[in-house]
Amino acid sequence: MSNIIDGKVVSAAVKDRVANEVKALGDKGVSVCLAVILVGDDPASKIYVANKKKACEQLGIISKEYVLPANTCQEDLLALVNQLNNDKTVNGILCQLPLPKGLDEKAVIAAISADKDVDAFHPVNVGKIMIGDYDFVPCTPAGIMEMLKYYNIDVNGKECVVIGRSNIVGKPMGMLLLHKNGTVTIAHSRTKDLKSVTSKADILVAAVGKANFVTADMVKDGAVVIDVGMNRNADGKLCGDVDFAAVEPKASYITPVPGGVGPMTIAMLMQNTLTAAKRQNNLD
Ligand code: GUN
Repeated sequence: MSNIIDGKVVSAAVKDRVANEVKALGDKGVSVCLAVILVGDDPASKIYVANKKKACEQLGIISKEYVLPANTCQEDLLALVNQLNNDKTVNGILCQLPLPKGLDEKAVIAAISADKDVDAFHPVNVGKIMIGDYDFVPCTPAGIMEMLKYYNIDVNGKECVVIGRSNIVGKPMGMLLLHKNGTVTIAHSRTKDLKSVTSKADILVAAVGKANFVTADMVKDGAVVIDVGMNRNADGKLCGDVDFAAVEPKASYITPVPGGVGPMTIAMLMQNTLTAAKRQNNLD
């Protein structure tokens, strides 16, 4: 019954759009530049940062990488952030998380200029999302909204259930669905009788971080199911939060893992970087 939402197709469309706009800005003499800070040598973070650099190169965005040792002190990291805040050639700043132990993530996020905060983690940008007046949206929820739009899935008046209340995914996801007139429930690990909550969802977003957490009995017939999970199963295979094989026949639309939400996040980061450049050059 279900249609597979193809994140590779939607992310390619977003990247195409961004590349065309970057090219048009270039023709006016305006460059677009993303600075990425990586502290330490977490293997997953290294891969993420490499992928971000590759996407920048593909889209004509200048990428600057700052790799600092794991024993970097807070003052030195904040000094780099400050330098990038004041560098007019840098439009977007991203500090890859998690930071090594001993560094204060909250202070680093707050130090990044809100105008260059392409992750949309800064308290000012978080607040702007709350009031519905925003330029940057965290990349994962932004990517999910883009997928819904691409497949003409209307949120208006729908029961939307988000499982997970993280600052990066669950909370902003709930706000974006609310801004589109969804009736939003944010469920979490303390939710009583989760199944009775999720079973009402027309649109169900799973951002839990547990393989096969969402089973078929938790899903309404015809629901749209969005899987944010990035887990490894017992065999080391990448899998989402949703038991795809069991849920897919019940869903009207579903995102696979891999190839669903994952490819969208970097595309939306590129979109946010373009937005930052346009705003800083008064071209929005
Ligand atoms: N680490 C994992 N995901 C992200 C992200 O979206 N942004 C940053 N800065 N770090 C991350």
